[in-house]
Amino acid sequence: MKKIAVKTTSKNYEIFIGEGLSRKFDFDPIAHKREIFLIIDKNVPEKTIEDLKKNLKSSFPKRIVEKKIFASEKNKNLTYVSKIYDFMLNKKLGRDCLVIGLGGGITCDVAGFISATYLRGVEFLLLPTTLLAQVDASIGGKTGVNHKGFKNMIGAFYQPSLVIVDSSTLKSLPKKEVLCGLVEVIKHGIILDNKFFSWIEKNAINLKKLKISSIEYAIKKSIEIKAKVVSEDEKEKGLRAILNFGHTFGHAIETAGENKLYTHGEAVALGMLAASNLSENISDLSNLEIARIKNLLVKLGIRTSLKKKIDANSLIKLMESDKKKDKGIINFITIEKIGRAKIQKVKDKKLISKVINKTFSYS
Ligand SMILES: NC(=O)c1ccc[n+]([C@@H]2O[C@H](COP(=O)([O-])OP(=O)(O)OC[C@H]3O[C@@H](n4cnc5c(N)ncnc54)[C@H](O)[C@@H]3O)[C@@H](O)[C@H]2O)c1
Repeated sequence: MKKIAVKTTSKNYEIFIGEGLSRKFDFDPIAHKREIFLIIDKNVPEKTIEDLKKNLKSSFPKRIVEKKIFASEKNKNLTYVSKIYDFMLNKKLGRDCLVIGLGGGITCDVAGFISATYLRGVEFLLLPTTLLAQVDASIGGKTGVNHKGFKNMIGAFYQPSLVIVDSSTLKSLPKKEVLCGLVEVIKHGIILDNKFFSWIEKNAINLKKLKISSIEYAIKKSIEIKAKVVSEDEKEKGLRAILNFGHTFGHAIETAGENKLYTHGEAVALGMLAASNLSENISDLSNLEIARIKNLLVKLGIRTSLKKKIDANSLIKLMESDKKKDKGIINFITIEKIGRAKIQKVKDKKLISKVINKTFSYS
């Protein structure tokens, strides 16, 4: 079992990584005599849910209450969350209850947001079950829901008490979801760790096959990178924004595809290519490094072209309505080289348009 410490201004906590932790982790210190509220993604295999519940029961909690949720971007909203508050109130869950989120990034964001707001805040922990949630969404305390068609518009910074990454939960994950997680793993290498990026290049096939030693190493490295950024800038006043590399373009591509045409990972991968081409123009990123990023995506079988043509101006408009916009100027994360990212404010719409047209062929 691997352990990583996360230190933030609001809270310090630990993340554990290992195979079979839902079944084996010692919950005694946190679950004993507590009221537990499990928020479970209904696509998590029954075996994992049963293992976790059996394990929790061995810590003699006061009561375990569970709610299965249908995790989708459409449901990730205040109306859905409100139904969960009603359920919790009906079950008379008090401020001393412990919320446990078991599922992918949507479940982690929703469980975190409910914990931040129910009775002005209750303790929570996360057991992320998608690769994306294990390397990204469960780390760093960003919680929230979508609002009026925009992603994660309403939310709170609220840290969990513990994150438990059971790598065996990945076995049931559809391949396209594995790829989504790998895109974020690659992003972590691109923004802060050149050596890790080279390691991913060498181990791409093992990662795709979910070879346990490789995937656990990639999860650990990713968490360390994200935890380091979050501990320096918990509330995204500056540095934390580098984690959005590829996401400004990516979110706009997702919205342009009505959140159906592309998976989040596909959109972010396309966004990373656009951000790399922008970096060539304004941060002197070499062609060689752009080719390394594209080749790695191709090697993993991640799409590098659009499915449907998008007009550059429409994409820019969507980026302007993203919450990362700052008085008409769009904030982009660019890289000078693999492993070194920076935040750039870009006013020049012609340049952005040129980059979009250069990056996106479609097939
Ligand atoms: N808070 C953050 O810092 C942060 C960071 C990145 C992404 N996010 C959010 O995370 C969400 C995306 O997360 P995601 O990609 O995990 O999506 P998700 O939660 O929708 O999970 C993807 C799919 O996998 C299913 N699933 C989950 N675990 C499974 C398992 N073990 N076996 C089989 N199927 C399983 C889910 O039901 C869903 O259909 C987005 O809403 C995004 O905004 C948040």
